[in-house]
Amino acid sequence: MAREFARVGVVGLGTMGAGIVEVFARAGIEVVAIEVDDPAVTRGRETIEASTQRAVDRSKLAADDREALLSRVRVSTQLDDLADADLVVEAVPERLDLKAEVFAALDKVCGPETIFASNTSSLSITELSVRTERPAQVVGMHFFNPAPVQALVEVVRTVVTDPEVLSEVTELAVRLGKSPVVCGDRAGFIANNLLFTYLNQAVGMFESHYAGREDLDAAMRFGCGYPMGPLALMDLIGLDTAYEILDTMYRQSRNQRHAPAPILKQMITAGLLGRKSGRGFYTYAAPGSPEVVADALTPPPPGQEAAGQRPVQTVGVVGTGTMATGIAEVFAKSGHDVVVRARTEAKGEGVVAGIRKSLEKAVVKGKLTEEVRDETLARVRPTTSFDDLAACDLVVEAVAEDLEVKQAVFGALDDVCKPGAILATTTSSLPVVECAAATQRPDDVIGMHFFNPASVMKLVEIVSPITTSPDVTATVRAVTARIGKHPVLCGDRAGFIVNALLFPYLNDATAMLEANYANADDIDSAMKNGCGLPMGPFALLDVVGLDVSLAIERSLYQEFRVPGFAPAPLLEHLVTAGRLGRKTGQGFRDYQKK
Ligand SMILES: NC(=O)c1ccc[n+]([C@@H]2O[C@H](COP(=O)([O-])OP(=O)(O)OC[C@H]3O[C@@H](n4cnc5c(N)ncnc54)[C@H](O)[C@@H]3O)[C@@H](O)[C@H]2O)c1
Repeated sequence: MAREFARVGVVGLGTMGAGIVEVFARAGIEVVAIEVDDPAVTRGRETIEASTQRAVDRSKLAADDREALLSRVRVSTQLDDLADADLVVEAVPERLDLKAEVFAALDKVCGPETIFASNTSSLSITELSVRTERPAQVVGMHFFNPAPVQALVEVVRTVVTDPEVLSEVTELAVRLGKSPVVCGDRAGFIANNLLFTYLNQAVGMFESHYAGREDLDAAMRFGCGYPMGPLALMDLIGLDTAYEILDTMYRQSRNQRHAPAPILKQMITAGLLGRKSGRGFYTYAAPGSPEVVADALTPPPPGQEAAGQRPVQTVGVVGTGTMATGIAEVFAKSGHDVVVRARTEAKGEGVVAGIRKSLEKAVVKGKLTEEVRDETLARVRPTTSFDDLAACDLVVEAVAEDLEVKQAVFGALDDVCKPGAILATTTSSLPVVECAAATQRPDDVIGMHFFNPASVMKLVEIVSPITTSPDVTATVRAVTARIGKHPVLCGDRAGFIVNALLFPYLNDATAMLEANYANADDIDSAMKNGCGLPMGPFALLDVVGLDVSLAIERSLYQEFRVPGFAPAPLLEHLVTAGRLGRKTGQGFRDYQKK
């Protein structure tokens, strides 16, 4: 008969333990909570009372229900009080010896049927299980902070976990209103393993001065819709905690990408632990404060760099595709005169028609007046001749993603454009310096990587190869801000910021699936529910297209030669089999044909 879980124990009433007690009691389960001494018991009880009171104040819990909930919670300093618990969850500090001691003591106190669960974030459940007389009844139950709010629970199985125990604990998590995922016993489990590898890579980019902290964070927020940028998140987690997790992951995996970036150790030693110490990657108003204050690393606002500016009023756009049309619209809407160079008159008219359609939509929605629509359209002039770009202050190239084609365009621009004109490419994967090298004026050449759809997406990655003049970078940063976009600066390396951080993570997720560590639904759910990402990795890969993803992963591997960047064979096989994602109806998942 399936276990009822009428009574559970929680050992440790700190940040996590108190939250876990609340979760059980809310679900109508009797909880006995154990702490080391009376003051700790009182503190734990107060934490639960305060948290449930906040829930009442926010109308998330009725006052009566709170009373009932609290009446189900008993606190104690005696492990003996857990004798008849069906399940005990430990949430004591993250030390193997301490956790093993707790389990060894529980082994003597609890009945033979009791299941033991650890809330560890990074220690081995297998290691803990063999310190008990009941290894088949030991699992991980990894709640996220704050436990009453976060839906994800990673249920961790070991090689000896009884499958029945596993399914009972998973069902219990559902009963608690959580979204459980099942995974094997590997450091970091699903969410932290994927998350911290990505965070560590972002720290490495900061450390190597590839991009600034604000730009790294803005790139992931505006480019991927992440709730927080990686460095702000590191500060929130605490650099010491992040270091420990990465270090444990590295010791287990010997994967270079898990080795904590060296700057972390230096920052920790210097007492820069993140928000909690008032300083980490950012500086905060006070220890524990979420308010970021300016410091020596804070960049000047766009337009106020020391490098000076070039005037930009007339903008050329080369190309007639989706990106070119969107970019022309963005410049025209922000008051620039736009010359669009097309290969044929019909294609040029197509761009104007595309812009008209987009503006018309805005008029229908009441977001734009007819007058502004007409003024905007009047600023766009299509042409088939490069000569008409002669007077442009800035030209943005958005032709096919083919180096030869782009180099031919840059050669033509070099012939006609006035001295001092800025020449930009919107390439997403080719080296910008190759475009610069096709001209006699490499210092005027820069990358402006818009995202699709350009009229909507806020982010523009501004890519300066070693050749770009500082005033060109400063001008393009200011222009980008003026057209209502968020500029971020980075160097000329494969993937720029967003793709260089996003695709290795997607590849790690693919490798995790390939290794049968967890299934695709659980990995997607862990990243959505545990990390607040807008989509799980496989849902995203299917949207982006597996062929496109494979090409990006290959270019990253070609550039960096990091073993972990080599595309997972599973992705290659899916592409070979013609499963390219949503566009073909099958990718990691099957989709209904439209
Ligand atoms: N904080 C997080 O975001 C988070 C998220 C998921 C998992 N975890 C994991 O949860 C566990 C607890 O973390 P925390 O942040 O709640 O730590 P914490 O320091 O806030 O709480 C630990 C509590 O355990 C008590 N304790 C210590 N020894 C004990 C013993 N022998 N018996 C009973 N109580 C004892 C301490 O007095 C303290 O109140 C750790 O394994 C941690 O890795 C933490």
